[in-house]
Order: sequence, then C-alpha cells, then structure tokens
Amino acid sequence: MLEPDRFWLDRNRGSDLLFDAFLKANRYPLRIKSGGMVRSKTLQADTQTPLWPIAQGLILGNDTAMLASSLVLGIETTCDETAAAVIERRSDGTGRILSNVVHSQTEEHAAFGGVVPEIAARAHVDLLDGIVGRAIKESGIGFAQLAAVAAAAGPGLIGGVIVGLTTAKAIAMVHDTPLIAVNHLEAHALTPRLTDALEFPYCLFLASGGHTQTVAVVGVGNYVRLGTTVDDAMGEAFDKVAKMLGLPYPGGPEVERTASGGDPNRFAFPRPMLGRADANFSLSGLKTAVRNEASRLMPLQPQDVSDLCASFQAAVLESMADRLSVGLRLFHEQFGPPRALVAAGGVAANQAIRGALQDVAAKAQTRLIIPPPALCTDNGAMIAWAGAERLALGLIDTMDAPPRARWLLDENAIAPAGFANTRAGF
Ligand code: KG4
Ligand code: ZN
Repeated sequence: MLEPDRFWLDRNRGSDLLFDAFLKANRYPLRIKSGGMVRSKTLQADTQTPLWPIAQGLILGNDTAMLASSLVLGIETTCDETAAAVIERRSDGTGRILSNVVHSQTEEHAAFGGVVPEIAARAHVDLLDGIVGRAIKESGIGFAQLAAVAAAAGPGLIGGVIVGLTTAKAIAMVHDTPLIAVNHLEAHALTPRLTDALEFPYCLFLASGGHTQTVAVVGVGNYVRLGTTVDDAMGEAFDKVAKMLGLPYPGGPEVERTASGGDPNRFAFPRPMLGRADANFSLSGLKTAVRNEASRLMPLQPQDVSDLCASFQAAVLESMADRLSVGLRLFHEQFGPPRALVAAGGVAANQAIRGALQDVAAKAQTRLIIPPPALCTDNGAMIAWAGAERLALGLIDTMDAPPRARWLLDENAIAPAGFANTRAGF
C-alpha cells in the first residue's frame, strides 16, 4: 500500500500547466488537503501540498509533468471485446501489466456471421462489472490506489462505447479518481511503448476489422495519418470473403488456415491501388472479384475454396506491401527514419501478413515490431496504458467527456479525393 504522505506538489518545481489541467476537472480543488480552492500560483514556494488521493504519485518537475509511478485501470468496449486491465507506468516511461482480462464475444455473434451492435452493447452491460472486478482482483491492488480510470470513448459501436465510458465515470466519481477518455486508435498506436519501450517517432500499420491505416506516431496526441482504406478495412475483407465461401466467423483466421492448402496463383485477382503515389488502401474491388469467381465456380469444391483463399490472400499481401512501402516513404520525407514499423490489430496475427511486413520493414531499413497477439487485438491494457501516457502529461478529462462513434486520430486528416462520403472514417 502506498503511503499518502509520500506524494506532494513541490511548488518550486511546479508546472502550472499540469495543475491547471487538474483544476479544470471541476471536482479537484475540493480535494487539495491544504485548504480548499487553492491554485498552485497561490502556494508558498516551500509549500508541499499533499494531493492524496487525487493525484497519487504526482511529482512535478521543470515544467515537465512526471508521475513517480501510476496505476491505471483501463476499460475497452468499443466492439466485441469486453475488457479491463490494470497497468503501472513508471516514472522512466516504462510499463507493466498487472492484470488484463478480455472476454471475446465471438460466440454471441457467431450465428450472425458478424458483430451485431445491439447484442454487443447488451453483452457489455452484462459482463463489464464482473470483468472490471476480476481485473482489479488479479492486479492485487484496490480501487483506492488507482491514479486514474481510462475508458475507450470511441471510435466504435456507440452502444458499447457508452457502456464502457459510463462505467469508467461511475468508478472515477465513487473513488475520487481522474477520468481519461481514450481514443481507441491512440491506444493501439501507443501499445509498443508499453511492450517494447519504443521511442517516438515510429510508423504504425493498424489493420483490424474496423480500421486499416498507416499512421506516423510523432508523440502522445500527435499523429499524422499517411494512408487509410477508402472502402473496406482489411479484417472486414477477410471476414466477408470467408462468409461468401461458407467459412465460419470470424473469417480472418479461417481464410488464413484454408489458404495454406491452396494455390495462390490459380486466380489472378486484382492488386488494388498498386503503384499509386498516395499510401491509401482499397479492398472492395478485390472482394468483388473473389465473389464473381466463386459464383462462376459454383458449386465450390474444397480445393476451389482453398485456391480462392490463397489467391485472395496473395493479392492482399502484394497490395498491402506496396501501399505500406509508399506510407513509409512518406514517413521518411516528413519525419526522417522511423524508429520502427509497428503492426497492430487482429490482421497482424496472420503469419503470411507478418512475413510480408518483415520484408517491407527490411526494405525501408527499419525494424518490425508486432506486439504479442493478446495486445494486438482489442484489450484493456492498451486503454490503461494510453490513459497513463496522457495522465503523465496532465491530459485528463471531465465528466462530460462524450462517447464518440467516430473519432479521427489525426484531426487534420482529409479524405482522399472522391472518397469524402465513404465509410472510411471521414
Ligand atoms: O483488432 P481486432 O481483434 O478487432 C477489431 O476489429 O477491432 O481485429 C479483428 C479482425 C477481424 O476482422 C478478423 O477476421 C481479423 O482481424 N483477423 C485476421 C486474422 N486474425 C484475425 N485476418 C487475417 N488473418 C488472420 N489470421
Ligand atoms: Zn481495435
């Protein structure tokens, strides 16, 4: 158990910026123990004001906010994983996972061949309190020791986002702890700092059921989108191809498995966007080509299904490698050499895709980092970690932080010409 009197605000080394951030969250002034509504500016130079339990572990220095060590609870409910985790972020910027509990709702949605938003939201309501309870228990700490509660506030299926964010707000209020509303994409983007202590800047390739993006990760809160899909996400394309070929949900792993016994050269499917100067992706034309070929061959024999999967995957690989190489070139032009190419999202579990990513990274003379599968797919630890990174910079949120169905990681990103009205998140 941490001792309250170990934590204080040292005015000599204080950062008004951070203190103001705390004051902005309207409940904080009441919890400064040395007397009500005190702002840092009014404190005496030698005052050491206990800040327990609001800013547990808070030490400020040289205008740079530093946390001695902070424990953060993270909640993830944006899609079909109900997840909660507790992580520790140390003052040197390294992290440790104390617990990471994930319930994947695959069974709940399997009969429908995809995620049903209302079923997902109801399942989050049913499951989340138990999952949070387990995450706290397995971490070996109590709610009172948390420096903050973080929840994914979007982008995602709005029903689920509301469940997670509301739960986090309730915990924050009951336990007098700051709330941090995390962008789910930012959490994917910052994960390699938890797993590999990676320094900025680096290039993120995020490929999941809902997103396909190449992003320059320049700093916490500083992201530049280099490329994005103009139609389907990569995981979505795998899922749809699986469905049209009669393979079970979720389709990605099934397509990969089935492709291993197939001929990748039997069908000459298109390689979307190959050779274009921008770094965007497109998958719906390829998906349609697979559908047309499958209809032509009906009824499909098992070997046809294997060959279709193998030929589809080969086309995805080639297109991805080309698109990502352009993304890395754009990165280099704007930010210099990246510290790494990082792959995240469920699609990064695909072995053939990993192989292609390795080649792309080698050609760009950088290293490839793929967090372990459990941290590549949706989880609570990445939300907790992103919360801790934001907390360390004083970036906390108020109780009116909204749930968001859409939330661009790069607020300056513009839609590629002609694609402003697509589903690709513009
Ligand atoms: O990141 P994730 O777990 O959840 C979100 O979509 O946010 O990604 C799930 C997606 C699904 O579309 C799934 O089919 C795909 O990742 N996926 C794969 C593989 N494993 C999962 N796609 C291709 N090959 C795989 N082995
Ligand atoms: Zn995700």
